[in-house]
Amino acid sequence: MPEPLLQFDRVTKEFDLYKNWFGKTSKRFRAVNEVTWQVEPGAALGIVGESGCGKSTMARMAVGLELPTSGEIRFAGKTLDKWLKEEALLLRQSVQMVFQDPSASLNPRQRIREILELQLQRLTDFRAEQRMQRMKEVLEQVQLPLVALDRYPHEFSGGQAQRISIARALISKPRLLLLDEPVSALDVSVQAQILLLLEEMRKELGVTYVFISHDLAVVEQLCPSVLVMYAGSIVESGPTNQLFQQRNHPYTDLLIRSVPVPGKSLELKSEEMANLENSQGCAFRNRCSKANQQCSQAPILKEVSGSMGGHECACHYPLSEAA
Ligand SMILES: Nc1ncnc2c1ncn2[C@@H]1O[C@H](COP(=O)(O)OP(=O)(O)OP(=O)(O)O)[C@@H](O)[C@H]1O
Ligand SMILES: [Mg+2]
Repeated sequence: MPEPLLQFDRVTKEFDLYKNWFGKTSKRFRAVNEVTWQVEPGAALGIVGESGCGKSTMARMAVGLELPTSGEIRFAGKTLDKWLKEEALLLRQSVQMVFQDPSASLNPRQRIREILELQLQRLTDFRAEQRMQRMKEVLEQVQLPLVALDRYPHEFSGGQAQRISIARALISKPRLLLLDEPVSALDVSVQAQILLLLEEMRKELGVTYVFISHDLAVVEQLCPSVLVMYAGSIVESGPTNQLFQQRNHPYTDLLIRSVPVPGKSLELKSEEMANLENSQGCAFRNRCSKANQQCSQAPILKEVSGSMGGHECACHYPLSEAA
């Protein structure tokens, strides 16, 4: 087994919610709750879960934009703390992120040439002609013509603008790409084109993906393995096909049953979320038809009985054991 490229080891992230008159924190919110997971080089891991469950917070911690409250994150075997202290630039080159809304993440006042050049100037010591060469290469990879360099972001469609965001993320030849809802703002046919492009690029360039989405159908298309999150915790994980066919957590079941049409986004109400932050036990129990007293103790992730390996679920009453 190769060394994992990215590892989260019991990582927790808490945010201060309110401060009192003296500046002291009166309430903290646990956005990510002791999560442990990893992704191997060249793999594509999907992270799914409804709005507010902590997906982006995990991604932001993985690129060093947020620091964990506790636990450890390692990239290529070295802790992120060490990377940030010793080789922050190399970390930025090696780990890049693509966001949901390309129009918000591309500076509207800069032509694409400036956007890409700035990234190369920040992350590499390439000379002018090397930068030009790299810009050409990366535009070809995302299937955009060279004339794109002289245009502004607003002159592109949503799908084309997202290709530019992907080009910017790829230009430093990262080893890991965190894609945070990269196709959610696009219509279904454009989504399919971008997903195909991402799939081709993964095969061609060997980049490792962590792909965040609330849309299970999208994740199924691109990611051989998946984590399902609920209220900051991983509730189920494993090979995507297996997890879809033999979902074990009542929340995964709800997620899958809530997607009537492949490619259509899912939206679930999460009105209980606000009350969950300091509660003990399984966070899903208020919404779960199977919940009983045992669920006031938090279930831990464990191997699903009869699974072919790697399929884990955190539930006292997994569906596979239902009478
Ligand atoms: N800087 C912050 N300060 C306080 N709370 C925050 C902060 N960032 C995130 N949160 C809270 O942490 C929780 C998780 O947020 P996060 O953005 O990770 O969710 P998400 O799963 O990415 O949701 P979405 O699908 O809507 O993007 C949310 O309840 C959010 O309000
Ligand atoms: Mg998010």
